[in-house]
Amino acid sequence: MALIELKKITKIYDDTAVPVQALKDVDLIIEKEEFTAIVGPSGSGKTTLLNIIGGLDKPTSGNIIIDETDISTFKTDQMIDFRLHNIGFVFQAYNLIPVFTAKENVEFIMLLQGVEKEERERTAVELLTAVDLSDRINSKPTELSGGQQQRVAVARALASKPSFVLADEPTANLDSVTANNLLDIMEKLNKEHKMTFIFSTHDARVIKRAHRVVTLRDGAIESDVITDNAMANAN
Ligand SMILES: Nc1ncnc2c1ncn2[C@@H]1O[C@H](COP(=O)(O)OP(=O)(O)O)[C@@H](O)[C@H]1O
Ligand SMILES: [Mg+2]
Repeated sequence: MALIELKKITKIYDDTAVPVQALKDVDLIIEKEEFTAIVGPSGSGKTTLLNIIGGLDKPTSGNIIIDETDISTFKTDQMIDFRLHNIGFVFQAYNLIPVFTAKENVEFIMLLQGVEKEERERTAVELLTAVDLSDRINSKPTELSGGQQQRVAVARALASKPSFVLADEPTANLDSVTANNLLDIMEKLNKEHKMTFIFSTHDARVIKRAHRVVTLRDGAIESDVITDNAMANAN
């Protein structure tokens, strides 16, 4: 059973002077435990696609089925609740809460989910340890490097125990050593925690780390390739 199925997804932004067709008849199936990159030049529709998969935006037409639930028909309240329990997000600009420590940032989503304090704290420490930040648990975002902040964001994305994690150009603000380090951690979480990752990038060094590469051009899927890394990382 597919984890995510997109059926004939079209997105037209029509609040602009000239309407923009950002996605055209996109069909895509993502299975559990994939480590997939959505790639393509700037403007090809990567962010639009991830926003639609994550329920942050609605398609103009088409269906999105996640874990057998068609989310295309959800009302806003249902969507917010679905996102909170099913989807982890990592953004290009980290988006951590500046007044919170790393641990509090990771705990916050569990607080929203109603998880009790002890379990929140235990999970936050476990996840921060998994992203190699056990020594920075009580640091605020301003006391962390960009790479460390993005690792907190990855830990936070996992804290809600989502079905999958979406990351929109997570390495865009990182140098290549730090970007590689983030990919190492995501790959480890993919393997050890069996977490599904879908990340967008136009960085060739990040693309070559993916197990599957879906290339968008002008809002349509141009190619969809399983890479050698998929074999190397199997079981
Ligand atoms: N909110 C918006 N309103 C109007 N046009 C948009 C909006 N967001 C994106 N677009 C347009 O949709 C197309 C795809 O954009 P986007 O999904 O951001 O691509 P990418 O992430 O690959 O750079 C581009 O032509 C972009 O200008
Ligand atoms: Mg984008």
